[in-house]
Amino acid sequence: MTTVDLPLLPLGRGVDLQSERGVECPGDLPAASDPDLVARALAAKEALGERVFVLGHHYQRDEVIQFADVTGDSFKLAREAAARPDAEFIVFCGVHFMAESADILTSPAQQVVLPDLAAGCSMADMARLQQVEAAWDAMAEAGIQDSVVPVTYMNSSADIKAFCGRNGGVVCTSSNAQTALEWAYAQKPDAEGGAKVLFMPDQHLGRNTAVLQMGLTLEDCVVWDPHRPGGGLTPEQLRDARMILWKGHCSVHGRFSPDVVDALRAKDPEIQILVHPECTHEVVLKADLVGSTEFIIQTIEAAPAGSSWAIGTELNLVKRLADQHPDKKIAFLDRTVCYCSTMNRIDLPHLVWALESLVAGTVVNRIDVDPTTTEQALVALERMLALPGKTAKD
Ligand code: 13P
Ligand code: SF4
Repeated sequence: MTTVDLPLLPLGRGVDLQSERGVECPGDLPAASDPDLVARALAAKEALGERVFVLGHHYQRDEVIQFADVTGDSFKLAREAAARPDAEFIVFCGVHFMAESADILTSPAQQVVLPDLAAGCSMADMARLQQVEAAWDAMAEAGIQDSVVPVTYMNSSADIKAFCGRNGGVVCTSSNAQTALEWAYAQKPDAEGGAKVLFMPDQHLGRNTAVLQMGLTLEDCVVWDPHRPGGGLTPEQLRDARMILWKGHCSVHGRFSPDVVDALRAKDPEIQILVHPECTHEVVLKADLVGSTEFIIQTIEAAPAGSSWAIGTELNLVKRLADQHPDKKIAFLDRTVCYCSTMNRIDLPHLVWALESLVAGTVVNRIDVDPTTTEQALVALERMLALPGKTAKD
């Protein structure tokens, strides 16, 4: 069988390219209509006791998040995974790159389970290791590689994190991107023409942080397109840049648009616009507040009763905030429905199936990063965890 480099559902690569890769569930996946699903999840969790720890990202469905021992943004969940050395099983209700990071940050004896292997991330799939290596070689040819520090957003595969680890770089999340960039620029104090950062894979988080928090200009930023020869850039453009942004984005946050902000403000002059930094620069420029999912939650919790908000992030979280704060006016910053389809792959039937399988002694959907990748990615993740004073939005 020939293997090809397919970007989506990468776990099935090389196994059976004809099937919907990575989604079959050995054993019985309970029916979504099963009225006992909640009771079954509770019973399985109780039977596993301290052996299992369930992590839930804020974008998860309500039906799943109710079983999380801890909820959080990507940074908090990475820290929580690292802080649970006694849990035999970490069940990660989130997406693949998060489960990979949890596996890297936990001991080899601990097993990380992703209830549905199809819970990937289209943004993470936009940066493939081969493409990144090609970009790195082009930077050597342009004579700038020694001045560049690679920084990858948590939303990337383990092999991209390993690339950063072995090339002097770091991982960041939406809640510590500024600190990570400050760290990165400080790594090359003697670089001719100033230090540069290669930021992957989310051009928007990179641009928003560089321009709005670090004082760089839009002219300091260039976009490396992995699908064009030389990234679509001349060696001179690379030499003049301070920030080389990977051409990747989140398809969920890419939907929010500045004209909706204008329309909402025209209707309600008191409304405050609160968005995630994965939104485009044009949207972020028009927002009142920008931050990670944890920051968004904390902002709404601290907001006075009667205040009015439009939130630009994934819909499960916005709906939950609206339900939890009926005394505040909370709207979604898009005219249409916009869930993250991969986050939504984790539903209650898959969670029940994963937990009951553990009770029966079978570890299903284990995320197991190979030892070399783990070692190198850990370097970049630990650099992130050691960054100073992360907690402006913690
Ligand atoms: P945070 O939870 O870190 O803000 O990340 C958002 C996101 O898109 C996760 O996929
Ligand atoms: Fe990926 Fe965007 Fe979904 Fe987050 S919300 S998992 S970045 S596609």
